[in-house]
Amino acid sequence: MTEEIWSAEKSKAVFGVGRNDLHFLDITEDGNLCVKLGKHRITFQELVRSVNSMSENGTRYTSSFTLRIPQLITYQVKKLKASFERVFDELGYRGKFIGIYPVKVNQRKDFVTAVIRTDSEYGLEAGTKPELLLIKKLTENEKHRQIVCNGTKDPKYLKLIQASMDSGWNIGISIESVQEARLVVKHFKPQKTHLILRIKPYLNVEGHWSHSTGRDSKFGLSIHDLYNVVELLKQSGFAESVKSILGHAGSQITGLDAFTRFGSFLTKLYSELREMGLSNLENIDFGGGLAIDYAGSYPPDLMYQYAYNIVTGVKAQIERDSKRHPEPNIMIEAGRAVTALAALIVVHALELRSVFPTPGDTHESETARAEEDYLTRIHNANTLEKMVSLWNEFHERFGGMTLAGLEAIHVREMVVGKLETAVRARLREMNLPTYSSDKLERSFWYPEHIVIGNFSVFNSIADHVMVQQHFPVIPTRDLHIHPQSTVRLVDITCDSDGEIADFYRQHTEKTWFTKDNRPVTMPGGKMDKGIPVGVLDSVPGSYFVIPLVGAYQDAIEMDHNLLGDLPDVELRLKEDNTWGISWITGAESIEDLLKDAGYADIDVHEDPYMS
Ligand SMILES: Cc1ncc(COP(=O)(O)O)c(C=O)c1O
Repeated sequence: MTEEIWSAEKSKAVFGVGRNDLHFLDITEDGNLCVKLGKHRITFQELVRSVNSMSENGTRYTSSFTLRIPQLITYQVKKLKASFERVFDELGYRGKFIGIYPVKVNQRKDFVTAVIRTDSEYGLEAGTKPELLLIKKLTENEKHRQIVCNGTKDPKYLKLIQASMDSGWNIGISIESVQEARLVVKHFKPQKTHLILRIKPYLNVEGHWSHSTGRDSKFGLSIHDLYNVVELLKQSGFAESVKSILGHAGSQITGLDAFTRFGSFLTKLYSELREMGLSNLENIDFGGGLAIDYAGSYPPDLMYQYAYNIVTGVKAQIERDSKRHPEPNIMIEAGRAVTALAALIVVHALELRSVFPTPGDTHESETARAEEDYLTRIHNANTLEKMVSLWNEFHERFGGMTLAGLEAIHVREMVVGKLETAVRARLREMNLPTYSSDKLERSFWYPEHIVIGNFSVFNSIADHVMVQQHFPVIPTRDLHIHPQSTVRLVDITCDSDGEIADFYRQHTEKTWFTKDNRPVTMPGGKMDKGIPVGVLDSVPGSYFVIPLVGAYQDAIEMDHNLLGDLPDVELRLKEDNTWGISWITGAESIEDLLKDAGYADIDVHEDPYMS
């Protein structure tokens, strides 16, 4: 079969580079992944070289790191506001856009600072006392910003809120239960208080967090509680303190039409609550939920469509209510969409392992004859069903445990490897409309190479383990070469969950294959296993990039196996339009990790990753 002509452009399509939320990445003609920053294209080779020339305490650093690009937060904050303003213009909407960054998504100072430096009107959301304290610290000289205090509130949290309001901060207090409403009316003064009624969204949405959006949500007021709270507020003189209602429909909501329904639903409540006497109600806070395109599978313009759907839903309801109420201001607490792009894990590949022996002679034996027989049958197979049954048959025959001894296992593994290769070649020749079958005991395409990356999935991308969040993985070199095969990227923890093998096969009209006949794209697009790589032999010592890790992953990291944080390196476009990188913090030391586990006197200043 003639080898397809490959190019960096083809790799861009395969990896979704340059599209949607990977718009800031590119591939050079000679196959190097790079970051686009201003007019610069900075390859990861250059970045790694710069990091390798840095040293901490006199030691040169030469392995994996987290790359931070806070300027991408600026980009996202501006894009979000611009998306709403465009929709307001298009639909003639008269409410305002109020952006609020929920710091729980990433509390790092460089990230929160990037948000507030971008927009002097952007607000911040706290879910706990410590988060409110960090917000106060960062806004000491900017007390006009809208702060939303969510989360369960005890008297101490409320006291902190009250003291902050007394010192001039502009705080909206969300009421999430009757108990909280009672505490608020007891301790606060109606004229000085901005109350936000947080209401359960009563919405059916697809996704991991769907349990947080309906009747059973742990957040917000149920409808019966809402009645009681409104009554209590009216009786105690707080009816006019309610300026906002809030509904958070969950995170990473991919079904965009849910936002139109949600827009109408919250607007209906807004109108009814105003008619019930909450006459100062003027804002609807839609919480978070704006998705990131981790798989590169959405149409472009996700943010615009999100804004369009919400505003359309709101406007339609205002019209259904005969325009009796003003168009509300729209508050958006998008977090993931604001910070995800700004961090990438750059993983050093330590070694490459193969699960099958190098193909060789099977010797004269019964196994060799069986191998020959299977090769002929594979060659003659002409339907998917026949191939599935052959595949399952030879795996059953040669796979699994045997007491025949090491030499026999070696030969059998070699045979399985050879037969798998033959099946893939034949399947490609058959050029089928689909290769999927629910009868396969092992996927045709399961990668036979494993890359050991010097990192911990649990520390750097915990959501991959906790909620099976997909994160893209992109090799940094040989992207101009027709991919030789696909791999699984595994970490150095002793846990089999510490691996990423999922790779989204982008839609192309015809399937594109690796040189060893594994699909890298598919009509319709599909999630499958195996990250394409250009040249297997060049993998050890190279780097892989896991982008889009700037939301939540820093906050929920785990120190599994006492593997802590990777070093942090920041990439920035400077005022003179040159770029620079700076070393922010080194990896968490073994000493600190042990201290957290109660071992105070072990003095090791090294990081726990492989050297
Ligand atoms: C109240 C509230 N607002 C905003 C967010 C941020 O959501 P996202 O990151 O999906 O934008 C969350 C996340 O859980 C939340 O609970």
